[in-house]
Amino acid sequence: LTPTERLLHGADMPRIGAGTWPLDDTDAERVVTDALAAGYRLIDTAQGYRNELGVGRGLKASGLRREDIFVTSKFGKQSHGRDLAVRACERSLDTLGLDYLDLMLIHWPNPGQDRYVEAWEGLVQVLESGRVKAIGTSNFKPAHLERIIQATGVVPDVNQIELSPASVRREARAFHDAHGIVTESWSPIGGNGAKMLDLPVVQQVAAQTRRTAAQVVLRWHVQLGLVVVPKSSNPDRLRQNLDVFSFELSADQMGALSALDQGESVVADSDRTGH
Ligand code: A2P
Repeated sequence: LTPTERLLHGADMPRIGAGTWPLDDTDAERVVTDALAAGYRLIDTAQGYRNELGVGRGLKASGLRREDIFVTSKFGKQSHGRDLAVRACERSLDTLGLDYLDLMLIHWPNPGQDRYVEAWEGLVQVLESGRVKAIGTSNFKPAHLERIIQATGVVPDVNQIELSPASVRREARAFHDAHGIVTESWSPIGGNGAKMLDLPVVQQVAAQTRRTAAQVVLRWHVQLGLVVVPKSSNPDRLRQNLDVFSFELSADQMGALSALDQGESVVADSDRTGH
């Protein structure tokens, strides 16, 4: 099975998982079923993806024990408030058909709305109730993290951010490391279309290691100590992406991939619901 990472609040998080954006309920059910059959034990969804029902069906269909699966969801800006966040967690549990979540995230800081501190207070309350085993954030910058930590004294278990060789996010990772926050990469192979896989450097490292381009890029994440949630709708690629713990990249190969960095991609902080 996949290695795990111990989180601040004690949960063990698999180091690789299956992403489910932008799958609808029908496709999500199929992909979650395929992913769990292939050996994935971490499944990543969000209320904004509108596929929690399908994800929940896939979890159930697997026949796996609840404690052997790690389920992450996220809530959006309409739930930024203390009670609203509590209710959002209950809604996800209901739709997924679960009685606890392994990890719940605030999907975006939505700094314009400026209610993410209240949302965090709500998540802290849900953590204390035991309905979620770990809490975190997504797309938060160090300044946002500073603020919720200062307001509550509670450090997020995880911050899930866009991260890949094309956007290595050194400053964010350094902040997370200094606080014990696990960094989770979304769009780890560069997102829709996965054009990063065609880059000569990536192809070259793939040829050197006799691995696929996707395996090389996912290995880069794993070797940096990041948790990754690649998405694939294809059972062969799902299996291929999971097989990244049986080889290593050299320091030179790691460096060559990191040199693809183009800085932070410009994503709107407010009005996105999906990735
Ligand atoms: P598909 O679902 O058809 O496999 P990310 O997780 O970085 O957002 O990337 C998702 C994109 O990468 C999807 O377009 C997905 O297509 C594609 N993808 C996932 N795994 C692989 C792979 N092993 N080789 C090539 N493309 C992949």
